[in-house]
Amino acid sequence: MLQNNNIFILSSRIHLGKDTSFPILTVHKECDWMELALSYDDVLLKPKYSSLNSRSEATLESKLTNNVPLHIPLCMANMDSVVNAKSAIALARMGGIAFMHQFMTIEQQALEIRKVKRAANVLVEDPITITEEKTLADAKKLMSENHITTLVVVKGKTPVGILTRRDYSFEEDDTVLVKDLMTTTLITASLGSSVDDEIALMKKHKIEKVIVVDKDKLKGLVTMKDIRMRRKWPHALRDKKGRLMIVGCVGVKDYLERAKALIAEGVDAICVDLAHGHSKHMIDAVKGLKKLNIGVIAGNVCTAEGAEALIKAGADCIKVGVGPGSACTTRLVSGAGIPQITALLDVAKTCKKHNIPFIADGGIKGSGDIVKALAAGAHSVMIGGLFAGTEESPGETFIKNGKKFKLFRGMASLGANLGRQERINGDSKNVEDINKVNAEGVEATVPFRGSVQEVVQPLLRGIRSGISYCGAKTIEEVHKNAEFVRITSGGKRESNPHDIDVL
Ligand code: XMP
Repeated sequence: MLQNNNIFILSSRIHLGKDTSFPILTVHKECDWMELALSYDDVLLKPKYSSLNSRSEATLESKLTNNVPLHIPLCMANMDSVVNAKSAIALARMGGIAFMHQFMTIEQQALEIRKVKRAANVLVEDPITITEEKTLADAKKLMSENHITTLVVVKGKTPVGILTRRDYSFEEDDTVLVKDLMTTTLITASLGSSVDDEIALMKKHKIEKVIVVDKDKLKGLVTMKDIRMRRKWPHALRDKKGRLMIVGCVGVKDYLERAKALIAEGVDAICVDLAHGHSKHMIDAVKGLKKLNIGVIAGNVCTAEGAEALIKAGADCIKVGVGPGSACTTRLVSGAGIPQITALLDVAKTCKKHNIPFIADGGIKGSGDIVKALAAGAHSVMIGGLFAGTEESPGETFIKNGKKFKLFRGMASLGANLGRQERINGDSKNVEDINKVNAEGVEATVPFRGSVQEVVQPLLRGIRSGISYCGAKTIEEVHKNAEFVRITSGGKRESNPHDIDVL
């Protein structure tokens, strides 16, 4: 390749050998312009005058869509070794949001969403109920399916008892009827009563749960545990009913059926998830989902044109990133992708014009990259690899040479592809299936990093620091103020600890 100022001349000669029927091919292509594309490591932010007294004054409020806020600009990637109800709850408690992946049956995904929605709402609006004539075995099954320890016993819609751990823990006979175990003296609060009134009732009667009724009809359940949780996590991301927020992902095949099931569980937005999102399938899916009257996040794209097409189809948020992820090999396999800073800056032009927020998805190695993503116009970042190492994530944990690790895999890796086929076909072990897979991701290990909270807290401190360096107080001001400089390999070297022995 010859370079003359901005003129690149590509010249290649492909020899396929004497015996082939292919001709010797010479390709000459002239282009007078080739865009330079930069990634996080190629740039730094210009430090600007800050009027903050302390970095802690910087705020982290942002938004996922124009209707869904974020208290911290962090999303958890929809990957099966990263997100489950447990890790989703942990991030939502801190103010961010998880994207529940779709690599399971619709029923399983709906159940994970239900667990999140039931995790910390002050009023459980539709408590799980049982009738008096059922057995303890029936009750245990119901509780285990719903990951709860209490059932409200009803006759029609009227509560007649409550079955709590205190009632059944010492009972060894599973055939005993619920009516012979339940507590029948019910402490109830009227619908619309305040949390303080409910706490007062619990204190007075030395109980942990209060049934909420409207006249004699069951309307909900308030638990002390949920009230404590609410106090412990004041910045948690909650919906209007006080439940933790979560996004549900769908593919482009069963999107309507899946989305309807997730919406029934109270999901806060739907994400249509496709590696190459600038496509007809994606546009059709976004248009179809918009009819369900829910916020739609669409991606992934990495160009202004891609974002424009998805916004025109009705997307409320764009997910940006083709190939930057830590477990991705898309760029190696397909030769396609755009380094993330350039992709974000390009998409930002379109998103700003339409007032649609976007997520910088993939490639985040630490808080510095998050600040750069926000500076490039993103409203949040999506993180996979960093969260995969947390104790809440679903990846397998193992010890190697005395150190703890967790398994992590790209969703287009061989293992993830075979897992998907197994779910659809019931089997995936034959060689034919393996040969058909076009893997664009890898399976890997990541170091164990402690809890989600332990990973998020230093990230938040770093983001606050970055906001102040941008001469800003809010993420919105970062969008306006930030200026990048491009750096060289010398600058990169200087940016890292150097010429010392790091302990
Ligand atoms: P990080 O860097 O946070 O990135 O681990 C998470 C993002 O990576 C994307 N992803 C993939 N991309 N092949 C790809 O090309 C894959 O197998 C794959 N799995 C995940 C995805 O956008 C995720 O949010």
